[in-house]
Amino acid sequence: MSFSVVVFIFGLFLAIQNVSYCSDDINYWKKLGLEDIKKSREIKIINKPAKNVIIFIGDGMGPTTVTASRIYGKTEKGNFAFEKFTNLGLLKTYSADKLVPDSCSTATALFNGVKANQKTAGVDQTVRYNDCAASLKPSAQHDSIIDWGQAAGKSTGFVTTTRVTHATPSALYAHTPNRKWECENTMPKGSPCKDIAKQLIEDLPGKNIQVIMGGGRQCLQSNVTSTDADPIDTWSCLSTDGRDLIREWEKDKIIRKLSHAFIENNEQLSKLDAEKTDFLLGIFAKGHLKLDYARDKGPKGMPSLANMTEKAIEVLRKNKNGYILMVEGGMIDQSHHRGHARQALDETVAFNLAIEKALEMTNEQETLIIVTADHSHSLVFAGYSDRNNSILNVAQSSPMDKIPYTSLLYGTGGPNNFQYHIDNNTVLRNDPSKNNTQDFEYSQQSAVLNDEVTHSGTDVAIYANGPMAHLFNSVHEQTYVAYVISYAANIGPLKTLHSSENSVLCHFSASNLIILCLAVIIFQLN
Ligand SMILES: *[C@@H]1O[C@H](CO)[C@@H](O)[C@H](O)[C@H]1NC(C)=O
Ligand SMILES: *[C@@H]1O[C@H](CO)[C@@H](O)[C@H](O)[C@H]1NC(C)=O
Ligand SMILES: *[C@@H]1O[C@H](CO)[C@@H](O)[C@H](O)[C@H]1NC(C)=O
Ligand SMILES: *[C@@H]1O[C@H](CO)[C@@H](O)[C@H](O)[C@H]1NC(C)=O
Ligand SMILES: *[C@@H]1O[C@H](CO)[C@@H](O)[C@H](O)[C@H]1NC(C)=O
Repeated sequence: MSFSVVVFIFGLFLAIQNVSYCSDDINYWKKLGLEDIKKSREIKIINKPAKNVIIFIGDGMGPTTVTASRIYGKTEKGNFAFEKFTNLGLLKTYSADKLVPDSCSTATALFNGVKANQKTAGVDQTVRYNDCAASLKPSAQHDSIIDWGQAAGKSTGFVTTTRVTHATPSALYAHTPNRKWECENTMPKGSPCKDIAKQLIEDLPGKNIQVIMGGGRQCLQSNVTSTDADPIDTWSCLSTDGRDLIREWEKDKIIRKLSHAFIENNEQLSKLDAEKTDFLLGIFAKGHLKLDYARDKGPKGMPSLANMTEKAIEVLRKNKNGYILMVEGGMIDQSHHRGHARQALDETVAFNLAIEKALEMTNEQETLIIVTADHSHSLVFAGYSDRNNSILNVAQSSPMDKIPYTSLLYGTGGPNNFQYHIDNNTVLRNDPSKNNTQDFEYSQQSAVLNDEVTHSGTDVAIYANGPMAHLFNSVHEQTYVAYVISYAANIGPLKTLHSSENSVLCHFSASNLIILCLAVIIFQLN
């Protein structure tokens, strides 16, 4: 190596050192503070009805998951697209009967505006888990943002990385006292209740949902068989009643002369002409979709959440009355349940890409975009890791037992997370530095041995952009989200509030205001 090359490299080294030093000094933080103030002072409230609403649910994406995913995907100084939204709040997620909720009860709060009991969807607190008779009472069943949107002439849709019959989407279109009733096979024989899949295909509002994409073929078609590329989910319902709800969905659209398409892989999704398709059913897996890092990205493989979101918006935006779309990053939660933190962080990064896609395709003057989680998870981020350390590495060693521990841990976990051994009559925690903690399948250690990682009852953040986004601004009940969508999009129970507010102003305020109103009316008559 010549002398000049050595000098150049040394110079470069010094420059890099200097940059990284400068980037954290007082001038850096001051400049950042000023920029932030400038941006904050320029925030303009968009105080008008929203033509479209897209609600993104990061299932299980609690505050700890967002922070850890940000460091994993963007570095600690970076931000996800939704973290740049200027309207934020927190949501209280408890359900009607539990301080720590499940995804069905929280979906019912978010989409139907009522707190429900654990594991029930689209029904109110009068329906206990498994109580079919109570769930059939019309007074216990409540409409969702999808019903409200359809009644107002808007197009509606949802996309998810889970089964389309799974907990979060089910509250959009079904009323059930048991989230496991995804198909007939998990229901008591002769039950007068209808399974979730049949409610989606046969009933309203399901029959009129224009975009349905996700997994769940095993709940829609009978006797599907497992393959290595697309295995059956043995935790879920497997339909065996001889019905084929996918064909029945197509038949219904043919009879009603509606342009429609059923698709099941990447190739068909990318070739689909959204301009010529009003009803789209995409079922890409028997169970949930594969995790984003593990999915086959080729023509016969499964799409990303961003891919599905893009096509959904293309189909729905043709309606001049606008649309209501729900997008769920459902595998964040599934990854946490299995105790694989890296998978959950990776799914959160993929979830953000779907949000970026939606932001790219919409105008903030007419589309309200809401991003939130349904509930948090028992992920813990602790232990004074160095700034330059990977979020997946060991943070430090415990001064007590001298055993290292990772930055990410779980409060509760399955047998793969609960890692202790007995050494010389002493119970000792396993040493994680002996494992590859960067692995997608590494299981972070948990304090408590459970059958799986459980949810957490911590508040979740809600981020909003577009018309009426400023209505999220403090600590709210989770049910508030449904009412903001109703109010902002002028649909559902608060539909007439915009106009009645104006008339209230005319009728009940001080007499001079009445005169002013009269003057305006007379002026307009002229
Ligand atoms: C589906 O499987 C079930 C149980 O395994 C069986 O009883 C039924 O006959 C099968 N149905 C069809 C249509 O093959
Ligand atoms: C999914 O998105 C990626 C990245 O934008 C793109 O390369 C790919 O073609 C898309 N696939 C489908 C099926 O739309
Ligand atoms: C990370 O930073 C710490 C202290 O800030 C330092 O001791 C360590 O050598 C750094 N490690 C790497 C890999 O740069
Ligand atoms: C086991 O523990 C006892 C008591 O602390 C100690 O005296 C002994 O050396 C230990 N044996 C080994 C093999 O570490
Ligand atoms: C750590 O490595 C050991 C030895 O290979 C293995 O038995 C264990 O399952 C690993 N633990 C985790 C959490 O991956």
